[in-house]
Amino acid sequence: MADMLSTNAQAPIQAPTVIRRQDYRPPDWLVPDIALDFDLDPARTIVRTLLSVTRNGDHDRPLRLDGDGIVPLAVRVDGRELTQEEWHLEAGALIIALPDAAHQVETLVELAPEGNSKLMGLYASGGLLCTQCEAEGFRRITFFPDRPDVLSRYSVRLEADKARFPVLLANGDPIEQGDLPDGRHWARWNDPFPKPCYLFALVAGDLACNTDRFVTISGREVALGIWVKESDVPRTAHAMEALKNSMAWDERIYGREYDLDVFNIVAVADFNFGAMENKGLNIFNSRYILADPETATDIDYDGVEGVVAHEYFHNWSGNRVTCRDWFQLSLKEGFTVFRDQNFSADMGSHAVKRIEDVRILRAGQFQEDSGPLAHPVRPESYMEISNFYTSTIYNKGAELIRMMALMMGPERFRAGTDLYFDRHDGEAATCEDFVLAMEEGGAIDLTQFRRWYEQAGTPHVRALISHDPVSQSVELTLEQSVPPTPGQSDKQVMAIPLRTALFDSATGTHGGDELLLLTQAKQSFTFTGFPNAPVLSINRGFSAPVIVETNRSQADLAFLSAHDDDPFARYEAMQQLMVNVLVGRIAGQAVDDQAVIDAVRNTITDTALDPAFVAETIRLPSEAYLGDQMRLVDPDAIHAARDALQQKIGAELEPLWRDIHAKTKANAFALSPSAKGGRKLRNAALHYLVASGATDGPAIAFAQFDAADNMTERQAALGTLANGTSAEREAALDIFYNRYRDDALTLDKWFQTQAFALHPDTVELVAQLSEHKDFTLANPNRVRSLYGAFAGNQWAFHHASGKGYRLLADCIIALDRLNPQTAAKLVPPLGRWKRFEEGRAALMRAELQRILAQPGLSKDVTEQAGKSLE
Ligand code: ARG
Ligand code: ZN
Repeated sequence: MADMLSTNAQAPIQAPTVIRRQDYRPPDWLVPDIALDFDLDPARTIVRTLLSVTRNGDHDRPLRLDGDGIVPLAVRVDGRELTQEEWHLEAGALIIALPDAAHQVETLVELAPEGNSKLMGLYASGGLLCTQCEAEGFRRITFFPDRPDVLSRYSVRLEADKARFPVLLANGDPIEQGDLPDGRHWARWNDPFPKPCYLFALVAGDLACNTDRFVTISGREVALGIWVKESDVPRTAHAMEALKNSMAWDERIYGREYDLDVFNIVAVADFNFGAMENKGLNIFNSRYILADPETATDIDYDGVEGVVAHEYFHNWSGNRVTCRDWFQLSLKEGFTVFRDQNFSADMGSHAVKRIEDVRILRAGQFQEDSGPLAHPVRPESYMEISNFYTSTIYNKGAELIRMMALMMGPERFRAGTDLYFDRHDGEAATCEDFVLAMEEGGAIDLTQFRRWYEQAGTPHVRALISHDPVSQSVELTLEQSVPPTPGQSDKQVMAIPLRTALFDSATGTHGGDELLLLTQAKQSFTFTGFPNAPVLSINRGFSAPVIVETNRSQADLAFLSAHDDDPFARYEAMQQLMVNVLVGRIAGQAVDDQAVIDAVRNTITDTALDPAFVAETIRLPSEAYLGDQMRLVDPDAIHAARDALQQKIGAELEPLWRDIHAKTKANAFALSPSAKGGRKLRNAALHYLVASGATDGPAIAFAQFDAADNMTERQAALGTLANGTSAEREAALDIFYNRYRDDALTLDKWFQTQAFALHPDTVELVAQLSEHKDFTLANPNRVRSLYGAFAGNQWAFHHASGKGYRLLADCIIALDRLNPQTAAKLVPPLGRWKRFEEGRAALMRAELQRILAQPGLSKDVTEQAGKSLE
């Protein structure tokens, strides 16, 4: 780190402070009560804060209230205004020496929300005023001990111009409201549940509401509100349905009931993340609230359902039981992702949901875990906590909970979560508290399992079976290893639960699914009663987040792709079959791809299968996933091999694709699982049909684009066309733009589709789009649609010239001045340089160095780019 910074001649910045988990100390002062008074205005908001503070333990340390970019206009203690000598600022924090055990401390600050481009703290978005406080945004609003283990009861008064801000919302229950002279009005909200300041929220604006109600299991009537701009109210029905389903599901599955009289959700257009679980007042990125058939794809609908559930579930896993410090972030995020994944599975298809979740895990988390930013689910240190809202904390964290639940079984797992919630209600807890509750409530020993929280890196498991016809026995030998990761060169042996079955290839059946627990570096399991060599099905349901290597033949994989009764394992066999062919081709070997074509044919003609499952299974592994299978990624060879196989599958099965495409055409839009599955399969068929090179391919795609009564089919057709160079491509892009130019979320798709396109000129097109009048760095969704998608387009981004790297780095540099959090999220793709040949690697490093040399670079980007160079 020091080395890296010394290369920066112009700006002698201090290396950002490293925060360590081991340094945790309980807070010096507690704040049982806080009263906030906001005089709201986009240009000039006044915040008056009254804290009741109490000394925590026997010490004489001063009161330290965090602050970021704010100065106190006045400080009062117990009603007396302090002189400038009686307080001082230290790294933004307000320091006050206090004599007694308890005091009343009052501060006054002024904010300019309309100038807040970081979207942390109080900011303006589309005429609204709103807040985002997690992780450390509250200190940008007022002086406060901004750490999750300081819990307070909040009383909030809001005042604003009534015409511009007719709706005034905050956490908890509405208490009172009234009009004031000069067209102003006010409202008071109280939240009876003590909470950390990261869960504080307010919203002021001209909002309309979709109202509904939910009666909890004990009979409490809850008023539900989804607040959006008037014209968007018709697009909130799906979110409302998801909310009510989530509330009922959490009662049924976890015995958790909602605890306030109101539950409000607000959708805002400018948001750094997906959504935020503020107590009683969730604030959402509008893309996870708004949905209608004209503008939302089925994936968008599922995203709304999943994120609404996620934020609602945080009311218990996050709010009632919160985190002691930010190293425990996965305590709430991993557990809550696990909860929302299971909810979505229960609302739709378990098989398809698991396949989708594993694909997300592999695309994001496995890459992270094998690169310079790898970190444990419970990290040991950070510079900027916003950089740790990662796929490891969220998705790998969820896999850890899933493994515990699998090892315990549903009843014992429920006993464990009951104990956890009951024991820690109202507290700020740790990951260790969760594991202890699982051990005690669920009667299980998790001593070795704890290493999943401590060690980064995706474990590898080698699984070899050998058959002895004489003793009619099978020996399964499992060998594990965890690769070195930054700061962790030597790894300890993990406890890995692997659901396994042995198939009789003659009958296509197995004698039962067994949960094998691999706890040693190398371990053998013996099975008897096998006159013939069986076929191994392992890590069924993706029971452990590991990479499994086996000695199975292509014939074994083809067999499993047709017979495995575990849907994930069946999907996985097909994927592995495809990977083997593609990796062989990329390496220049003459590989036989007939097995893949046969397996695809068998799958699409098996009428017993769910169409959604078929569509998932026949999809070729992504170019990025293929890259992950290689020591050095060759983007051009990967693209060529994948493209060729796609063409061949398309051409050899062309009549079947035509048939499926025609048969899956629905008369009218519906959102049922079967209608969604039909669309997924129809889009997959269209994709292969166009890939086949059939001369009428683009015309068929255009016809689908044109005639679709829903965005799922329209966007898929557009995406298929965008990969090619037909005249239909330009026509469809123009039509799409003109139709949706005034709808930001849908226009995002126009940018995203082009940035994702497997098209030879994507880099130039993205550069042009960055100059488009509808492109802006001020809106994170728009930035992610263009640059996030582009950085995920392996073939385009890794263009050998390095022009893709330069384009992304230019964006990071410009965006860092406005919004460091969102800028930092674009850095990781440049950090994968070790996986590329020296030419590309040098170009990637040069861009990281150029970023680091920028004067005044944020802590966020400094941390990510600095670590990426190591
Ligand atoms: N807790 C939010 C969630 O539901 C994420 C908030 C992250 N925001 C941030 N600025 N770090 O996952
Ligand atoms: Zn969350």
